[in-house]
Amino acid sequence: MRILSGIQPSGALHLGNYFGMMRPAIELQAQGECYYFIADYHSMTSLTDAAERRKNTRDVALDFLACGLDPQKSVFFRQSDLPEVTELTWLIGSLTPMGLLERAHSYKDKLAKGIAPNFGIFAYPVLMAADILIYDSNLVPVGRDQKQHVEMTRDIGIKFNQTYGETFVIPEPAIREEVATVPGIDGQKMSKSYGNAIDIFGDEKVIRKQVMSIVMDSRTPQEPKPDAEKNVALQLLKLVAPKAVAADCEQRLRAGGLGYGDLKKTLFEHCWNHFAAARARRAELVANRDYVEQVLRDGASRARAVASKVLARARQAAGLG
Ligand code: ADP
Ligand code: TRP
Repeated sequence: MRILSGIQPSGALHLGNYFGMMRPAIELQAQGECYYFIADYHSMTSLTDAAERRKNTRDVALDFLACGLDPQKSVFFRQSDLPEVTELTWLIGSLTPMGLLERAHSYKDKLAKGIAPNFGIFAYPVLMAADILIYDSNLVPVGRDQKQHVEMTRDIGIKFNQTYGETFVIPEPAIREEVATVPGIDGQKMSKSYGNAIDIFGDEKVIRKQVMSIVMDSRTPQEPKPDAEKNVALQLLKLVAPKAVAADCEQRLRAGGLGYGDLKKTLFEHCWNHFAAARARRAELVANRDYVEQVLRDGASRARAVASKVLARARQAAGLG
């Protein structure tokens, strides 16, 4: 089974990225042949600073390796090291109905926010479909917000197969229900672009501040909270703390007696400790940047072995060359 996923280098990675995508992706290393990449082409639709893209790309590589991506088990690479994927984007884009792209949530959300749409924003799901189809991927671990993109990939792959004959493997999304959408400090989906994230790596002070800024209601500590499961700090605590710790806090919230300040302090401690080993590994990797660059280069050449074959198959089927 081939497993594939990507993550954009558009800013510091956060708990939503980790629990929604990175941890499931890392755990799947035991179950199949994994291809994971840094989607730097995709980041061009939202980021136009070249130096920042380069820095973010390096940071994502460090973060993912520090969190447990094992280059012995996974093929780890930069999307743009394989320009083959942009050629496939054209082949499949020529079969993609405008209507399908107009229905994409991510596109509609951007329009609703008043962002002037460009070709890249509109074509985003086609490039993502090419990413997935070019590696003959079977399974795509992502958070819930990406589910529609994987469904569009299936539609596009099926259409190509019907038009030009069997060419692509049709993939399935893999979404963990318990972490499908990790809430941010304002209760909305945690996202780099909403300013509501808790970072995985970063200064202790910054992360403490992010945790302490979680928005709470105005009920007193003594008041029982029968709706404790809706509390964002508790939801996050369930992700980073041992079960017994989270269960104890939940019980004390329900009964009354646990103040929100104390809850957030507990969350910060567990958050900080949860990533202690990864932080140490990351510090080692920072001191060893050549190694990280070598991992990405090796990854690109292993990825090319598959991508060039699939692209040749698609070109042949479509009567090109
Ligand atoms: P962001 O919204 O912060 O820009 P990305 O779109 O780059 O995040 O997402 C990278 C991966 O992390 C995707 O698989 C996405 O589904 C997952 N992800 C991002 N935010 C969350 C979240 N709040 N909860 C669960 N998964 C998430
Ligand atoms: N669009 C994804 C995101 O924003 C990143 C991505 C690009 C991706 N290509 C992919 C994810 C292919 C899975 C498979 O998170």
